[in-house]
Amino acid sequence: MEAELLEVRRQAIARIEGALTPDELELARSAYLGRSGALKALTGRLGALPPEERRAAGRLANEIKAAILEALAAREEALQRIRGQAARAAADITVPGERRPIGHEHPLRQAEAELREVFARLGFEAVEGPEVELAYYNFEALNIPAEHPSHDSFDTFYIGGDILLRSHTSPVQVRVMEQRKPPIRVVVPGRVFRPDTPDATHSPVFHQIEGLVVGEDVTFGDLKAVLTMAMRELFGPNTQTRFRPSFFPFTEPSAEVDVCCEIGGQQRWLELLGAGMVHPKVFQAVGYDPERYTGFAFGMGIDRVALLKFGIPDIRLLLENDLRFLEQF
Ligand code: FA5
Repeated sequence: MEAELLEVRRQAIARIEGALTPDELELARSAYLGRSGALKALTGRLGALPPEERRAAGRLANEIKAAILEALAAREEALQRIRGQAARAAADITVPGERRPIGHEHPLRQAEAELREVFARLGFEAVEGPEVELAYYNFEALNIPAEHPSHDSFDTFYIGGDILLRSHTSPVQVRVMEQRKPPIRVVVPGRVFRPDTPDATHSPVFHQIEGLVVGEDVTFGDLKAVLTMAMRELFGPNTQTRFRPSFFPFTEPSAEVDVCCEIGGQQRWLELLGAGMVHPKVFQAVGYDPERYTGFAFGMGIDRVALLKFGIPDIRLLLENDLRFLEQF
């Protein structure tokens, strides 16, 4: 009897300690302590033993029951602990999240978006044109004669023959006028290319936003009002602008417009755009009657707007794509 009891204890403890789930633990409990369990089956036979042996076996049976109960309790606690750990490992909401780097718009794109918005508020529609352009649109239709210095290959990247990388956004004026009848009020943001030597305010690849307004009585006063308003919207209500007489073959009269700004701690005038009244020869090239229509046009450097807006001291920083620089805007 004693040997059988000790064997039951051995098996019971082994099974309890090997239980992996609460269900397995419950099965072990009923297999040994249940009404038809192994321990019950043995103690049922105690009555048949001689009194001395019965007492000793009874005591042992009680000890074994207590040992099995203790093992059950210990295993239950262990299983709970393991389950708790597993649940935490699967979804530990207290672990700090892995931060993904979040990008944002390049300062040039921000400047472009703001320009589009400012001109949209002034009633301008934004359109686009090709970066690879025909010499006709880049030059001839804009009244830039063959002997004009910007025809020279030093000022324009030629792809071959009459095909070039546009050196300004003005060719899109012509493309728009060929396709539409006045009234016209568009802006054309886009990338342009010139073999300029890079310096703090010049880049061989830069961006312009062209403006074109054509109607029956558009005046230089309208041009000045629109540009002055746009500059104040862009740079604040106290922005000073300066219109200097200038020359462009496709406008007459022409002006260059500067904005007063602080660059590298110094107050300076920075040339931001060229502008003027659309030249009658340009109207003729697109079949508009220059006696009936007048208009103004302008071409603004977007990169330079970004320099002023963000206080960037060198235009080359905009194209280097150094994250330490870009992250600041
Ligand atoms: C033009 O490109 C004319 N198409 C502008 C125009 C349009 C005049 C319509 C009249 C009517 P300009 O070469 O000055 O003009 O360039 C215009 C602006 O582009 C400049 O004022 C300057 O802001 C910017 N810009 C010119 N060259 C560069 C360069 N290399 N890098 C960065 N910005 C430049």
